[in-house]
Amino acid sequence: MKISVIGSGHVGLITGVCFAEKGHEILCVDHDKDKLAKLKKGEVPFFEPDLPELLQKHVASKKLVFSDRTEDAVEFGQAIFICVGTPSTERGKADMSYVEKVARTIAENLKDYRLVIEKSTVPIKTGERIRRTIGRYVRGDVHFDVASNPEFLREGSAIYDTLNPDRVVVGVDSAKGESLLREIYGGFNCPIVVTSVGSAELIKHASNSFLALKITYANWLSRLCEASGADIEQVVHGMGLDKRIGHHFFGAGIGYGGSCFPKDVDALAHISEELGVDAPMIRLISDTNKSQLERFYQRIESELWVLHDKTLAIWGLAFKPNTDDLREAPALRLIDKLKAAGAKLRVHDPVAMPNTRKLHPDLYYAKDPIDAASGADALIVCTEWPQYKEADLAKVKASIRVPMIFDGRNCIDRKKAAELGMTLFGIGKAPVKPAE
Ligand code: UDX
Repeated sequence: MKISVIGSGHVGLITGVCFAEKGHEILCVDHDKDKLAKLKKGEVPFFEPDLPELLQKHVASKKLVFSDRTEDAVEFGQAIFICVGTPSTERGKADMSYVEKVARTIAENLKDYRLVIEKSTVPIKTGERIRRTIGRYVRGDVHFDVASNPEFLREGSAIYDTLNPDRVVVGVDSAKGESLLREIYGGFNCPIVVTSVGSAELIKHASNSFLALKITYANWLSRLCEASGADIEQVVHGMGLDKRIGHHFFGAGIGYGGSCFPKDVDALAHISEELGVDAPMIRLISDTNKSQLERFYQRIESELWVLHDKTLAIWGLAFKPNTDDLREAPALRLIDKLKAAGAKLRVHDPVAMPNTRKLHPDLYYAKDPIDAASGADALIVCTEWPQYKEADLAKVKASIRVPMIFDGRNCIDRKKAAELGMTLFGIGKAPVKPAE
């Protein structure tokens, strides 16, 4: 099928590339001409495993073409996916101006039936507003449908997640729209859940907030573990074996980050309050998440006594492994606090250093993890990249000034650290300390 995708960021580009991989013909639109010039050459402006290869494959096969005009998208595909940004403003309210502008442009150029599908993460009731907006601005008696088809891809495994989803949710209020969406997803081997537009919108926000709640529950438990002498990894393992609970997204750390969880949790609370439904539980997720990093910082400060003029190494800057995305990354918030306290920072990340340098040109960007640790008064781990889990702790010990590690992701080998006589503070775990 011919499909148009408006917005060629993380969601739109991956959607377009994966639909092309499933045999559809795709037009991806973006207003940023520089970005389009790069995409046409197969260059991706952010780090995402497997994306450059698949992009190059489908640019070459001509299954994927680009344009900077939304009008072209209306002409090209019978199905039009809206994948533009919805940045959040104060207390979780999403800025819908890009979505609204796209809806108007679609309306003004509509000549034949089109199925308009919102895929950007949008507040509930957006589908209804898109339908009304198109209805207001359309010229003549042209038929159209509006559907919601939320994405559940995770950065870092976005291609895999999109090609192998647990389920596809389509919110659609017409038989024609449903049949088009079933055709689009015909090549995907998973259940297709058909709901109303409103239910599909809520499924997206509620799923992300539930996962954020699960992580937050583990983070809160980690505090109880520290206070009571229990071990968070043993606790969540024992709990997660109950199939009703499960192990996924139950790892304690320094808090969730990224472009989705923080924003989606706040947006769910906001829309809920707007609809007259109090959301103290949802607000608490966000507050507890923020205080998790604050506690980590206080632990560092209390152990090191004075941070001014201390040299600290940081491993991991991105909000999670396999991405160079710094949005809401706990490491960035920690960097702000440590810098404000007068610490000197030696940082490392396998892929996120160029993006961090734009925000903090004054840090020392290490050539490898050991270089970062060299001469430092302590090492702080903020992202569980595999290379940090496997790092040679003997080399760390040989190059660091004080062999002390604050492990914000419980990913450093405790046994090895103990053997080497290092001090290791994790999250929700008894510290490893050399005999005094
Ligand atoms: C998320 C959702 O998973 C995805 O379905 C949605 O569509 C977009 O938002 P993403 O933001 O890419 O994806 O990252 P994800 O892998 O979900 O991790 C989010 C954050 O939670 C990261 O900061 C991660 O470190 C943290 N996390 C995850 C934990 O702290 N503990 C866990 O057990 C799992």
